[in-house]
Amino acid sequence: MPSLSCKMRIIMEQTQIKRIVLGLTGGIAAYKAAELSRLLMKQDVEVQVAMTEAACHFITPATMQALTGRPVLVNQWDAAENGMAHIDTSRAADAIVIAPATADFIAKLAHGLADDLLSTLCLARDCPLLLAPAMNRQMWANAATQRNIAQLISDGVQVLGPASGMQACGEEGMGRMLEAGELASEITAFLNSAPLSTTLTPTLSRLRERELDCLKILITAGPTYEAIDAVRGITNRSSGKMGYAVAQAALELGADVTLVSGPTSLDRPSGAKVVDVTSAAEMFEAVKQRAEDTNIFIGVAAVADYRVAQPSEQKIKKSESADKLTLELIPNPDILAYVANLPKPPFCVGFAAESENLRGFAAAKRKAKKIPLLAANLAQQAIGSDDNDLILFDDAGEHVLPHADKLTLARALLQHIIRLRKK
Ligand code: C5P
Repeated sequence: MPSLSCKMRIIMEQTQIKRIVLGLTGGIAAYKAAELSRLLMKQDVEVQVAMTEAACHFITPATMQALTGRPVLVNQWDAAENGMAHIDTSRAADAIVIAPATADFIAKLAHGLADDLLSTLCLARDCPLLLAPAMNRQMWANAATQRNIAQLISDGVQVLGPASGMQACGEEGMGRMLEAGELASEITAFLNSAPLSTTLTPTLSRLRERELDCLKILITAGPTYEAIDAVRGITNRSSGKMGYAVAQAALELGADVTLVSGPTSLDRPSGAKVVDVTSAAEMFEAVKQRAEDTNIFIGVAAVADYRVAQPSEQKIKKSESADKLTLELIPNPDILAYVANLPKPPFCVGFAAESENLRGFAAAKRKAKKIPLLAANLAQQAIGSDDNDLILFDDAGEHVLPHADKLTLARALLQHIIRLRKK
């Protein structure tokens, strides 16, 4: 539940008139922009359309002008009546929404290019930027596109979609632009919670803070240690870096973060409540106490699946007569499955580290644990390293996050969680 101060702030902001620049780039999904502008205007959002030359091949400026009642901006030289239209238009807007955003335009934005009116508007803006990508599935999955998207997300750009499904080219997969109705509700929800009219950097940093503002996030991280005797134990090579990065990224977005951490040598993320645990049983207890009072649970810890049935309080002495020592192991509780099966579970996210068949095992694990989102990585690549590759699995399919440092991946993961929760 948002706190009283959060609610008051939301109500105050809802009373302000909202203006957006709706940018169309050259893709077949441009036809959906007609319906989108109609739906936004029905909700009292003022819509100023700007189109690239390529977009005009898919839908005419006349159509958009008739629907919005405003001249459409296309050519930066025509539009520059006072020579500063690119600045003025973005200054008057509460957000710029690019729908559809092609792979080419996304690449331009990621690199700060400004060679036409729309890209210039985006670069000169001091308001939030939202993108609705639309492209062929291979173009979406291409490492270059994913790199560009990750860059834009880390710059504070909001990415809406894409969805998975049948594509105009006849192929099926990720890359379809969200439907006009879905986009309209995402955009109005965003406008009703976004701060208005500040300079670029504060806007973006405040936006980042606010996206998880008022939300409690519980994260497990690191390995667990299962005692064999007073000095020996079973553990794994997890460093805790990914879980700590997720905690850091959630703090940046304003979340109230509790980090239940197995033994690691990492610095504590400042601002997080850290609960130190050693064994899986302790981690389970710490999570159980907090899980019902959390909005999002992210199980990043590499929890030992088994523990020693009867650990010895004293150091076990080497026996000269016995030629082998047998340890009896019993299963640990599955913490993530416990949380996911609570009567009112928080939004649950799991991690899977696999050494083979990553996609197959990860998709099956998400189904078995009944969780909306699972992040999968290769154990040999992920454990202990500073960089990683992640593939996210959700109801819409898989989303490949490009190779990056763990904090960048954690930020992209949280943006994905925010998008899924809005749905
Ligand atoms: O089943 P597997 O251990 O591969 O699942 C990994 C996911 O489940 C991780 O998110 C991990 O934190 C969580 N997990 C758990 N409790 C366990 C085992 C795994 O929370 N006992």
